[in-house]
Amino acid sequence: MEKIVINGGKPLYGDIWVSGMKNSAVAVIIGSLLIEDKCVIENLPDISDVAISFEILQHMGASVRRLNKTTYEIDNTRTKGGISPSELVRKMRASYYLLGAELGRFHRAYVDQPGGCYFGERPIDQHVKGFEALGGKFEVSKDTGYYKIEAPNGLKGASVFMDVVSVGATINTILAAVKAEGMTVIENPAKEPHVVDLANFLNTCGANVSGAGTDVIKIKGVNKLHGCSYAILPDMIEAGTCMAIAAATGGCIKVENVIPKHLESITAKLVEMGVEVEELDDAVIVSRSGDINKVNIKTQVYPGVPTDMNAQMCVLMCLANGGTSYLTEGVFENKFRYCEELRRMGAVIKLDGKVAAVEGRGILNPAVVKAVDLRAGAAMVVAGLAAKGRTEIEDIHHIERGYEDIVKKLRGVGADIKKIVIPEKFQYEKAN
Ligand code: UD1
Repeated sequence: MEKIVINGGKPLYGDIWVSGMKNSAVAVIIGSLLIEDKCVIENLPDISDVAISFEILQHMGASVRRLNKTTYEIDNTRTKGGISPSELVRKMRASYYLLGAELGRFHRAYVDQPGGCYFGERPIDQHVKGFEALGGKFEVSKDTGYYKIEAPNGLKGASVFMDVVSVGATINTILAAVKAEGMTVIENPAKEPHVVDLANFLNTCGANVSGAGTDVIKIKGVNKLHGCSYAILPDMIEAGTCMAIAAATGGCIKVENVIPKHLESITAKLVEMGVEVEELDDAVIVSRSGDINKVNIKTQVYPGVPTDMNAQMCVLMCLANGGTSYLTEGVFENKFRYCEELRRMGAVIKLDGKVAAVEGRGILNPAVVKAVDLRAGAAMVVAGLAAKGRTEIEDIHHIERGYEDIVKKLRGVGADIKKIVIPEKFQYEKAN
């Protein structure tokens, strides 16, 4: 067991290189199961969710070769369906892409229920709606609790209207439809850049997916997909987190390897808070010389402020110089579990359902806190870097699911941050 220790309270200066996007990396890796050939995937982040995705496919018969730190070759020629190991599937949310990918390739899927961050209920009814429209029959196995889908008569293109805008359901329906007979039309799909990334990857492999990133996605089924070489887009949430760090510490960070368009909603809110953001072609320079202003934010589906930035934005609201900011969660049921941790740092936050009223007190105090989930953990890093003194963050395995080399990258901009192993004696005391 490890923890992150930060001696915070000083402005940070320098450059941070943003890694490939976690949420498209996992979709592309698992989606590669559809391709009975070799695919080379570049710009993959070195994070545990990527490692687990590869491990799952290896258990199913894929062969995986690491070509360099960020590039892997995956060969799914011999991959078999229905045998993904439960203990790995339960470690991440994106393992539910096995449903669409297995269904698309084998016309059946058998996968345990996914894990990942807890944000209240995370239903999959819209995924099921997509699978059933294409001819799949879905059930939860009474014996194992696994999801089971069968399409003994094959898959046929269909029109699907998503009742809820869902990244997962959109990607799963695309995966199931790329090799289905005829045309599938998804209306009201998610428009997140990772949906576009997945569609571009599949198209590079010979699929015919159009309209990703717009209100209607059309998928013309093809018989066969072939191998390809494909580079994953940069991670907009890692970029947004680094922007929040520059804003919180009052330094100046050049966040490199980004697509500024993906960051527009975050940039707009930071500017409203009094932070300076300069957009370059593939970088943003974020700095702050004055106070942070209070602001109201509602997280929304893309192109709104991402729910994955909820916690990091809340830290900035705590650091605002006076006034109450209102933070409304517009996507998930329960995204505010991290507030308990911020309160240990002196934050004053009143919760009312999906709305947090955050008092701007200008400072946060150092404390021992937990990463309650991935982005909440990232927010603790933002808070710890801003708080003057020693902050310790426990349960950092959540952070490592989605942030490559976070300690090293932050040391590169001058942060006093390290990862230490918790001695076994204390692990025992903690467990008890
Ligand atoms: C994905 C991302 C996650 C991000 C989220 C929203 C991955 C692996 N995870 O999660 O980081 O926070 O998008 O951008 O890419 N819903 C339903 N029925 C469904 C599916 C979803 O009601 O069948 C609801 C959810 O409960 C939630 C909302 O739709 O309220 C959005 O969820 P969704 O976009 O599906 O999130 P995930 O794909 O789980």
